[in-house]
Amino acid sequence: MVIFFHIFFLTATTFTFAFTASVATAYPTVRDINTADCELATGGENPIPIRREVYGDGRIFDISHMYRSDMPAWNSKHGLGQFLWLPASMKNGSLANNSEMKMSVHTGTHVDAPGHVVGRYFDAGFDVDTLDLETLNGPALVVDVPRDKNITAGVMESLKIPKGVRRVLFRTLNTDRQLMFKKEFDTSYVGLTMDGAEWLVKNTNIKLIGTDYLSVAAYDDAIPSHIILLELRDIILVESLKLDCIEPGIYSLHCLPLRLLGAEGSPARCILIK
Ligand SMILES: *[C@@H]1O[C@H](CO)[C@@H](O)[C@H](O)[C@H]1NC(C)=O
Ligand SMILES: *[C@@H]1O[C@H](CO)[C@@H](O)[C@H](O)[C@H]1NC(C)=O
Ligand SMILES: *[C@@H]1O[C@H](CO)[C@@H](O)[C@H](O)[C@H]1NC(C)=O
Repeated sequence: MVIFFHIFFLTATTFTFAFTASVATAYPTVRDINTADCELATGGENPIPIRREVYGDGRIFDISHMYRSDMPAWNSKHGLGQFLWLPASMKNGSLANNSEMKMSVHTGTHVDAPGHVVGRYFDAGFDVDTLDLETLNGPALVVDVPRDKNITAGVMESLKIPKGVRRVLFRTLNTDRQLMFKKEFDTSYVGLTMDGAEWLVKNTNIKLIGTDYLSVAAYDDAIPSHIILLELRDIILVESLKLDCIEPGIYSLHCLPLRLLGAEGSPARCILIK
């Protein structure tokens, strides 16, 4: 969900997005961003950057999505759109290239803090900086969810997640449908229904919930499910995870959101280590 709370990384004192460089001109390599299988950089005159999904001889999986202008954004037909600008560039006589970005804090792989849907928590300062790093880092279970339903109470029960498990990443139909690679926002994604959220809170010890589209809650239940999950302030929601190449099982999860004072969400880099 998008609350209009943006990140501004402004290096200049003047607040202007008037510079008009097209993204392709300013960022010539962005066009090739989907070629993840680049050759190893050779060094030399024109080294080729390496983009990877897996590191460390197959042990470390990047489960964050790359920020791209054509990635989906909440309720948007046209995707994220331009989020990077290059107001200061060497071609323009600056000593260095210096980019700025602007986007919802709920874009791409990101976390939700209690203030996202509970007004009094927002006012009291329960922002992303207050989220527990211990919850965000530790053993996590990746589970495959039945593909024909949302995550209802019945589905939650059928998954038989052992009582001690504190972090669960739900791999769903969203991954099969490659929804995070489709520009247009799709309201038919799967997520926790209200009764699924209630069941989880009452019957498990799960304190970190991850899913593979922009919201952990199904679209029709988006707000009530979020309230159920965030009301007790001890559950962290991680949304838009990239679970495509991940086998179900136990991993070590590491998720690090930015310390955005006052913000009820933040982009996060999340990885799994086997
Ligand atoms: C600044 O640089 C960008 C990108 O190289 C270019 O498109 C733009 O025209 C430049 N602006 C000025 C004022 O030189
Ligand atoms: C950014 O810096 C490099 C030099 O390090 C330069 O080759 C490149 O053209 C710069 N980009 C722009 C848009 O100025
Ligand atoms: C999940 O729920 C959404 C509405 O919130 C609905 O559009 C979608 O079809 C449901 N998906 C499945 C697989 O039942």
